[in-house]
Amino acid sequence: MDIMIRPAERRDVEAMVELLGTLFSIEADFAFDPDRQRRGLALLIGSGADRVLVAEFEGRVIGMCSVQTLISTAEGGRVGLVEDVVVAQEVRGKGIGQRLLDEIERWAAETGLTRLQLLADRANEPALAFYDRLGWQRTALVGLRKMPRDED
Ligand SMILES: CC(C)(COP(=O)(O)OP(=O)(O)OC[C@H]1O[C@@H](n2cnc3c(N)ncnc32)[C@H](O)[C@@H]1OP(=O)(O)O)[C@@H](O)C(=O)NCCC(=O)NCCS
Repeated sequence: MDIMIRPAERRDVEAMVELLGTLFSIEADFAFDPDRQRRGLALLIGSGADRVLVAEFEGRVIGMCSVQTLISTAEGGRVGLVEDVVVAQEVRGKGIGQRLLDEIERWAAETGLTRLQLLADRANEPALAFYDRLGWQRTALVGLRKMPRDED
């Protein structure tokens, strides 16, 4: 397959929203809300510090992933949080997810990030097998979250 991995552009947003719909239907912690996903993607694509990639095949966006930069006191420098890793169902298992993450790693190294990290749903066995295959290590951390209170 002649796949192109490239930075996402605004014209890709609707296809990316569709891919996020697939992803959030798998992940128990997230609900698909196309308007929120459009807003989030617009912020990410417009950000100079972060990277959003798409995989394109025959003019169609069939995969995506993003990395956002954070500062880690543990690392004493910048690190990257990888999110939104998804490949369209009909083209999985063809190396596209790997190419997306390879490009994220290449960009992270070039940008001087010293660690990449991500959160995966513990029940998502196929994704965990994929990350294992790509050399990602499981950590002892547990993901926690809290929504800040609306003050009005
Ligand atoms: C996880 C996902 C992104 C992987 O993308 P993909 O394009 O199908 O994966 P690739 O073809 O690049 O696979 C890369 C390697 O991982 C392995 N792999 C991929 N999926 C696997 C699975 N379900 N079980 C075991 N190994 C798997 C491949 O065999 C390949 O290794 P190989 O080179 O030795 O053959 C894709 O399956 C997907 O979109 N899943 C739904 C969304 C999701 O769960 N995202 C992750 C959220 S944390």
